[in-house]
Amino acid sequence: MTEQISKLPLFPVNTGVDNRGHLVIGGCDTMALAAEFGTPLYLFDESGLRSQCAAFKTEFGKRYADTNVIYACKAFINKAMIRLVMEEGLGLDVVSGGEVGIVQAAGFPMNKVYFPGNNKSAEELALALEVGVGHIVVDNFHELKMLGEIAKKKNRKPEILLRITPGVDPHTHHYITTGNIDSKFGIPMVFAEKAVATAISMNEVKPVGLHFHIGSQITETEPYQQSLDFILNFAAEMKKKYQFELKELSVGGGFAVQYTLDAPAPPISHYAEAITSKLLSKCKELKLPPPKLIIEPGRAIVARSGVALYTAGVVKDIPGVRCYVSVDGGMADNIRPALYQAKQDAVIANKMNEKVSEKVTIAGKFCESGDILISDIALPPVAAGDIIAVAGCGAYCIPEAMNYNASFRPAIVMVKDGKARLIRRRETLEDLMRCDVG
Ligand code: LLP
Repeated sequence: MTEQISKLPLFPVNTGVDNRGHLVIGGCDTMALAAEFGTPLYLFDESGLRSQCAAFKTEFGKRYADTNVIYACKAFINKAMIRLVMEEGLGLDVVSGGEVGIVQAAGFPMNKVYFPGNNKSAEELALALEVGVGHIVVDNFHELKMLGEIAKKKNRKPEILLRITPGVDPHTHHYITTGNIDSKFGIPMVFAEKAVATAISMNEVKPVGLHFHIGSQITETEPYQQSLDFILNFAAEMKKKYQFELKELSVGGGFAVQYTLDAPAPPISHYAEAITSKLLSKCKELKLPPPKLIIEPGRAIVARSGVALYTAGVVKDIPGVRCYVSVDGGMADNIRPALYQAKQDAVIANKMNEKVSEKVTIAGKFCESGDILISDIALPPVAAGDIIAVAGCGAYCIPEAMNYNASFRPAIVMVKDGKARLIRRRETLEDLMRCDVG
């Protein structure tokens, strides 16, 4: 069985073990963090977040200078995170009026923001125009018409990208597949020409490019290349027919991360090489001027740098069947295992030097049999009071967190150089009842 120490590569880059056998992240003893802030606690390693932002800029930028990296903040949004992204010089991808509001409150330059989404409301579009969101990624004809009307009223002329569904299968979980033809997202190929022609004919919008996003946790590069082939052929045809200039092209996000030791993910350089080489060769072949390349990583920026700490409670051993270790959180703060059969790994943070000896199942505390965080994980002997640290919790856990069973959403700390900074306090009963006017 795999010793705990060998799982460290799944944890943030700045992870180690101290001489008491405690898991240390960003220079902070996770046991001390659990004691100070309580559990469940989410922690983010600040340097790890920054180095991922920088890695995307470097790996794509050195191969294709005109690249714009925009962080898909649905993966994890918090004002501290938005400011970090701003300091690292990235743009942002937002998908709702709520995200627009938070990003604006954090002081982010709105002209560096892109706004996709398959059913934006009139209010959301109006807000986007009012606060000066840089680009609207138009998903359908209904939105195009509505945006035109709002822009006219507000006397604005927003730059838009048209989101096209390339009809490519990225071979990921079907809940996080978006690029195939049977999808609620994007304009299907059969209507793509009409969308370009309509947008060009409108005075109220300025079509500057095309967009696709084919899915998430994509471990292959071919789906990106196939989509590029497809979209660039289409762009060349639109140039001929309508003098459409492809100034910007977004290939979306979807870059995979390694959640478990047996499922490695390609490095960023691999995606960067495949995408930029295809873009350059195809533009050359079609005699298209190479457009600004937009990439929208969410998960790959934040997943590894986030860790969830739980306290173990009941240990229920059913002889010959299974040993359940229940923790003080679960599906309300991390629904990914229940929703996508997502696999993650964990260690006992206070027993890093102890030998792994048993297989247990880590269960949450919510009233659902499906509330299982990790099945059949090898750990040292677990006892109530141990701190379980789950790796790869930075993306889509907190944003998808809920108050099921009237639970309080967890506190979040940012750790760096041995210091922990609270960036979201734990919810309280007052928070739960704030909107209850019954
Ligand atoms: N751009 C667009 C238009 C998107 O819809 C998404 C994610 C991204 C970029 C960022 O994709 P990423 O780089 O994070 O894969 N909750 C699911 C993932 C949902 C992805 C939604 N869209 C999960 O936990 O696996």
